[in-house]
Amino acid sequence: VRSDAVVLFGVTGDLVSKKLFPALYELTRRDRLDVPVIGVARSPWDDQQLVTTARKSVAEANDEIDDETFDALARNLSMISGDYADPVTYQRLAERLRDAERPIFYLAIPPAVFGAVVEGLAAAGLADRGRVIVEKPFGRDLASSQELDRTLRAAFDPQRVFRIDHYLGKEAVEGLYAFRFANRLFEPLWNNQHIDNVQVTLAEGFGTQGRAGFYDTVGATRDVLQNHILQVVALIAMEPPVADDTDAFREAEAAVLRQIAPLSPESTVRGQYAGYRDEPGVRPDSNTETFVATRLTIDSPRWAGVPFHLRTGKSLPATATEVVVEFKQPQQPLIRAEGGAGASANLLRFRLGRGDGITMSIQAKSPGAEVASRPVDLSVDFGVALGHRQEAYERLLDDAMDGQHLRFAREETIQQEWRIVEPILDLPAPVQTYEKGTWGPADAEALAGGWHTPYLR
Ligand code: BG6
Repeated sequence: VRSDAVVLFGVTGDLVSKKLFPALYELTRRDRLDVPVIGVARSPWDDQQLVTTARKSVAEANDEIDDETFDALARNLSMISGDYADPVTYQRLAERLRDAERPIFYLAIPPAVFGAVVEGLAAAGLADRGRVIVEKPFGRDLASSQELDRTLRAAFDPQRVFRIDHYLGKEAVEGLYAFRFANRLFEPLWNNQHIDNVQVTLAEGFGTQGRAGFYDTVGATRDVLQNHILQVVALIAMEPPVADDTDAFREAEAAVLRQIAPLSPESTVRGQYAGYRDEPGVRPDSNTETFVATRLTIDSPRWAGVPFHLRTGKSLPATATEVVVEFKQPQQPLIRAEGGAGASANLLRFRLGRGDGITMSIQAKSPGAEVASRPVDLSVDFGVALGHRQEAYERLLDDAMDGQHLRFAREETIQQEWRIVEPILDLPAPVQTYEKGTWGPADAEALAGGWHTPYLR
């Protein structure tokens, strides 16, 4: 059964206004949503404030608003303000959900109140028939994420728990899977015989964007490396699932994570952009990293000996998420590189952020008498080739309302991700300062023996 009510805990927060209102609007536009949407928060908002905020966030995400669509959404919106620890909050909610058979609860709330909300829902009898979507931060480490899982499991049937890593909801990220298994061309080469190394960059050309107080308790490793980047690594590195179904896909994903060695502090560089400590909400002596670069290895026959270099940071020169797969040089070098330049390798560059697509760098014969080669790009821009694609949160909400698990992480997947990053959490060594608008501390450059600069247009 499709969910017949949506409850947004933490409705006054950043995630709801940035991502969830626009997603609800899109779903309404596509006739995928016409059910009560109830916001819950501690702040004393009324229905009108909720509608006003929703309108503002939809306006920010769209060039223009279709009034008819927005009004249809607005008619479904209502607010409950109350303390998360107060049973009255849940009684009011239960009252409003009287007619809902399969409500879905979106927990966009800080970890500190997570337990109270889950217990409140259970005590009001709402967990028995509801689905629940949980967002990161999913704990702070392996132990606290297991604790969260126990809390969830005590109230909700695992079949009705949906753990969001919104990268798995992105068309471009899912496209990695399609690229590998729908093309005969590359999969035979997808191993340590032919691939030299893999780089993953998740760069952001902006800082903490007013979330410094939150960000300072988290840092780049917990914010994106533990989840989004490892999710991308899993799709690049996974073995083919044994069948074409949700369970097989999620098992293949968990299986490759099990083969990843824990990250090591010796091959990790942590940075912090200059000026970060002066931002409101940041501790003046903060050792939180706004940049991290590291080397990951996968202990499997397919990947032994192939380094995966990963980096992410705020206030870098660009906003771009890319995977670059670098192939080995030809076995017998018959063709010189043009002008005596060092040979350059074939690269497959998956552009996963805005302007997504794939760029393949191949060697072509350089013009002139000399038989030499020069790299040229074969490039496809998916916006042009494929047209409009849906936003991640739109797809994920739609899926969860249908009870579809394909694009949600398993409990074990999240735990494996924590196991992998655990040795580099909260390292005592001071972070290295980097200037805003640079690619992080100089040591990060050496770590990967040079990074491929993201393809910028
Ligand atoms: C979020 C992080 O999960 O992902 C943010 O908390 C980050 O700090 C964001 O900016 C990146 O997602 P996207 O979809 O903009 O690449």
